[in-house]
Amino acid sequence: MDKDNKMRKILVTGGAGFIGTNLVLNLLMDGENKVVILDNLSRKGTEKNLELLFSRGFKNLQFVRGDIRDYRLVKKLTEKTNAIFHLAAQVAVTTSVEYPLDDFEVNALGTLYLLESCRKNAKNALFLYASTNKVYGSLSHLKLRSFKTRYMLLDRANGIDENEPLDFFSPYGCSKGAGDQYVRDYSRIYQMKTVVFRQSCIYGQYQHGNVDQGWVVHFIKKAMKGEKITIYGDGKQVRDILHVNDLIDAYVRVLNNKNKAAGKVFNIGGGIKNTFSLLELINYLERLLGREIKYEFGCWRPGDQKVFISNNRLFERTTGWKPRIGKEKGIRMLVEWLSKEA
Ligand SMILES: NC(=O)c1ccc[n+]([C@@H]2O[C@H](COP(=O)([O-])OP(=O)(O)OC[C@H]3O[C@@H](n4cnc5c(N)ncnc54)[C@H](O)[C@@H]3O)[C@@H](O)[C@H]2O)c1
Repeated sequence: MDKDNKMRKILVTGGAGFIGTNLVLNLLMDGENKVVILDNLSRKGTEKNLELLFSRGFKNLQFVRGDIRDYRLVKKLTEKTNAIFHLAAQVAVTTSVEYPLDDFEVNALGTLYLLESCRKNAKNALFLYASTNKVYGSLSHLKLRSFKTRYMLLDRANGIDENEPLDFFSPYGCSKGAGDQYVRDYSRIYQMKTVVFRQSCIYGQYQHGNVDQGWVVHFIKKAMKGEKITIYGDGKQVRDILHVNDLIDAYVRVLNNKNKAAGKVFNIGGGIKNTFSLLELINYLERLLGREIKYEFGCWRPGDQKVFISNNRLFERTTGWKPRIGKEKGIRMLVEWLSKEA
């Protein structure tokens, strides 16, 4: 525990988004933290998340509607901060292909603004960056075998670890990857306490996924409404999925052990026990919801990985963390939350 300051000031960029809302709730329930959210509310559903956060009556919550590209604002907000969780981002590969300049400004330049502000105002603060497994590119060099419902990796029996070569693919891959490398480098060059989380697919409550990002919740919502799902590719692509509660547990472990984690890059995902192919998730949802789900196929998306399974060992060894919510339980929890939301 960071003992130098009893009440920690924590800045969460993108704090009204899916992961941000879950993190902010957790930090405020702890009672030891003062949380400042910086969010421009560009993502659909963020106003609803914000309402939920304020409805809980937390005294130590401040919301600033603003943009991470506003360097002056970012500099002001990082003053006297004990930790920064940098989650704000342009999150969709599809949007990045259409608007690469905007994507770069938010994901790469916005991250650099935050790092510089942190260096000037709060050099000893934890700086955690939500990166992505997309920095490893399409992984087309890995050997695979195709089965009826999924591809299987013949290499990397324990999943993909942090030593996999970087291969930025798509403007989103490039902009998030640039942020990832800057965050890593600020620890080497300026001895700052930065940490990079290369996250797999995260799912759970307060997620407002759509066809461009958040495929698990998007599939569930379509299935619950009886609408047809479009699968891009053949549906045999495999993802490891991690429930957001487990991700937040990982964030909090880093917050409380920042010296152990500083300067490190971690792959974080559901791991080998929590994988679904797209077809398998549909099949599971059919059983869970007791109805047939209609789907069709579209073209593969650029850079889509046929299999991504995170090897979490480095993070597990560093902090003792393990994902605790199994994939089927996690999906049931999300279906329950969505049913109440409807
Ligand atoms: N959800 C996942 O599966 C996943 C996987 C890998 C990485 N990530 C990363 O985790 C982070 C959070 O993802 P999420 O799923 O919660 O997404 P989200 O879209 O729900 O949250 C992002 C938040 O950032 C805000 N935002 C966007 N542009 C901004 C800007 N210019 N200035 C200020 N705020 C801005 C949005 O309004 C939103 O509230 C992102 O950096 C994303 O790249 C997410």
